[in-house]
Amino acid sequence: MEKRLNGQKALVTGANSGIGAAIAQRLAAEGAEVVINFLFNDSATDELVKKIEAGGGKAMGIKADVSNEEQVDAMFKQMFKAYGTIDILVNNAGIEIHNLLENMTKAEWDKVIAVNLTGNFLCSRSAIRQFLQNENRPSKARGKIVNISSVHQVIMWAGFSSYCATKAGINLFAQSVAQEYAEKKIRINSVAPGAIKTPINQNVWSDPKGMADLMTKMPYGRMGEVEDVAAAVAFLSSDEADYITGTTLYVDGGMCLYPEFRFGG
Ligand code: BGC
Repeated sequence: MEKRLNGQKALVTGANSGIGAAIAQRLAAEGAEVVINFLFNDSATDELVKKIEAGGGKAMGIKADVSNEEQVDAMFKQMFKAYGTIDILVNNAGIEIHNLLENMTKAEWDKVIAVNLTGNFLCSRSAIRQFLQNENRPSKARGKIVNISSVHQVIMWAGFSSYCATKAGINLFAQSVAQEYAEKKIRINSVAPGAIKTPINQNVWSDPKGMADLMTKMPYGRMGEVEDVAAAVAFLSSDEADYITGTTLYVDGGMCLYPEFRFGG
């Protein structure tokens, strides 16, 4: 594999399963040293580190709750001690809690906002502070942030209003920050996955009826694989995307193309 990220230091949040794990592996395969942030399942992190090292890459796990300011500060400190700096932050950690608004508790709302939005703010702030200190890094940009958003930053989704609020929020937060720091040669972009086969939507893909319904929303005729998302993240992190900032790359098999209109209008 082409090593577009040689010598760079990356941190991927929520990275010991699903999309995050694939991103960590891809960035490492392209030559980056990778911090795998996680909160649960220490053994999954250990296995992923071993897998990356077996492939000739470098990685380490750091446990931290991205919605907790002290834990985020401590994680970045630990990373800088081990790797010296950060070149690439991937804000991937995210959760979704299903509920109609009439039944939604304040605790459910707060949890989704805390992980998806406050977590993004805290990690982005720590990364930006360090990017501003970066000199002579092995990349044209001083630093890069890639957010894992969702098609639900534009597609409304009944039962997931809190999740949609965070994903739409990430979009304009990221664009505003991209505007603030473009002149410092810091690039901030998002990848918006559609239905990617991971544990988060297992209830859909493990049920034939759920899959049949999903396919009516999916012009490309298949669910996405985690590697589809990881490839987009690697591209946006690399110098091939050096002139790209403040935008979203949709990786959704056409989910945003109003697929119902295939059958009439
Ligand atoms: C959600 C998945 C869902 C997909 C498409 C993602 O943002 O995390 O659960 O399958 O959007 O609706």
